[in-house]
Amino acid sequence: MEKRAVYAALADQFAALIAGESDLVANSANLAALVYHGLPELNWAGFYFAREGELVLGPFQGKPACVRIAWGKGVCGAAASRGAAIIVPDVDEFPGHIACDAASRSELVVPLVGSGRVVGVFDLDSPRLARFDDEDRAGVACLVAVLMAHHPDWP
Ligand code: SME
Repeated sequence: MEKRAVYAALADQFAALIAGESDLVANSANLAALVYHGLPELNWAGFYFAREGELVLGPFQGKPACVRIAWGKGVCGAAASRGAAIIVPDVDEFPGHIACDAASRSELVVPLVGSGRVVGVFDLDSPRLARFDDEDRAGVACLVAVLMAHHPDWP
C-alpha cells in the first residue's frame, strides 16, 4: 500500500477510535498506539505536552523516555518553539538532539497547535536513517489535526 493510503486508513481508524470519547489522555494514547503499530520501522511514537514553559512526557509507545524537555531544546523543543514540523534524517547531525533510546537514528516531530498556540508535540523515532519524508510529515500532520479538531478546548 502506498504511504498516502496508509495514512488515510490510519486517519479513518483513528476517527473511529475517538468518536464519542472526550478524554484527552485516552485519545492521545490510542493515537500513539495506532501509529506505533501501524507504521513500519518505528522504535518510539508519543506525545510531549506543553506544561508551564516546558514539554512533559505524555502517552507513548516504545522504551521509557526523558520526562521533561526544555522549550527550544532537542528536536521536540525546537519543533514546539518554531511551531513547525521537523524531519531529522540523521539525529547525530542535529545539534542538541536528546537521545532517549540509543537505537534512534532519525526522527519526525509535529507540533500540536490549538487555539493558535503550541500545546505539545507528537514525536516519531526510527532505528533507520532517513526513515521520514514529506509524505510522513503530511500524513502525521493529518492524524494530529484529527486529534486537535476533536479537542478544541485543549487545556
Ligand atoms: N529525541 C527527542 C527527545 C524525545 S525522544 O526521542 C522520545 C528530542 O531530541 O527532542
